[in-house]
Amino acid sequence: MMRQINRIGVFTSGGDAPGMNAAIRAIFRRANHYDLHIYAIQRGFEGMIDGDIRRLEDDDVRNIIHHGGTFIRTARSQRFLESAGRKTAYENLKAFDIDAMVAIGGNGTFTGCQIFSEEYDIPTIGIPGTIDNDLFGSDFTLGFDTAVNTAVEAVDKIRDTADSHNRLFIIEVMGRHSGYIALYTALASGASAFVIPEDSTDIDKLVLQLQQAQRRKKLFSLIISAEGNKIGDAFSLSQQIKNLMPEQDIRVTVIGHLQRGGAPTAADRILAARLGHASVDALMEGQRNVMAGIVNDELCFTPFKESVTLSKQPSNEMIELTRMLGM
Ligand code: F6P
Repeated sequence: MMRQINRIGVFTSGGDAPGMNAAIRAIFRRANHYDLHIYAIQRGFEGMIDGDIRRLEDDDVRNIIHHGGTFIRTARSQRFLESAGRKTAYENLKAFDIDAMVAIGGNGTFTGCQIFSEEYDIPTIGIPGTIDNDLFGSDFTLGFDTAVNTAVEAVDKIRDTADSHNRLFIIEVMGRHSGYIALYTALASGASAFVIPEDSTDIDKLVLQLQQAQRRKKLFSLIISAEGNKIGDAFSLSQQIKNLMPEQDIRVTVIGHLQRGGAPTAADRILAARLGHASVDALMEGQRNVMAGIVNDELCFTPFKESVTLSKQPSNEMIELTRMLGM
């Protein structure tokens, strides 16, 4: 028998990502359609444990579609890893009569949701919200497109100064253990080379590539490095290259949290609209403990367990294409 849903708790958790606000707006508007009430669980699992929960009104979701960050705040929660924390969280949800949830976040968020679903009975739908694009079950995650656009804008600017000085720049982007941001940034900014965890480039191959470029009279080079790559952070890469190519004038730029802020791109707002809308419909149709995603432009749902344990990697085609065009 399908259960009655009246109040949906919504939360954002883990690193914020552009498009989270647009998703909350879509959830709220779709819930309105069914006469459901939306409650914001502020600061993710932390707010769930502290009972930091409030009802959202029309005004809360007006004029937010274009804002980065998350107006209901986010956090990385250590306390939710403890069963005592989860018990308190459940009691708070019950106190607010919350009978279903939509969780917007990444790997850590859905791992938390999975554990919670094994202990307590509150149907939850996930929306992939992380700039890292590392979740199985959706071709893209909220914030990824914006982060790549931000990184590309930064690389375009670095290109000007790299060109003027004939320098080699190593530009480090985020992504945790995933190379998606680095690879897409490298392709879109026409970088000479990239270093990502999913590819087997080592320092010798990288240096060979740079020497080939030099022989073709390429006077400056841009290398995009994923923070999670296996051969070292941007500063270590710089030192390793300098050891083998002492003539190179090398500079390092770590783009850092700049990539997490700013107005979401149209692609991220549209993804947020589709997934926010779908998450409420999914709850109404009796789905539970799955992540909503878009694969090949089709809406699909993946159990939390699979979304966090199965790996998603950039295709070989994308890797080879980026390498080929960077030469
Ligand atoms: O998961 C998103 C992300 O921005 C990663 O790319 C990065 O490694 C991490 O979060 C940084 O986390 P924090 O903001 O907690 O330093």
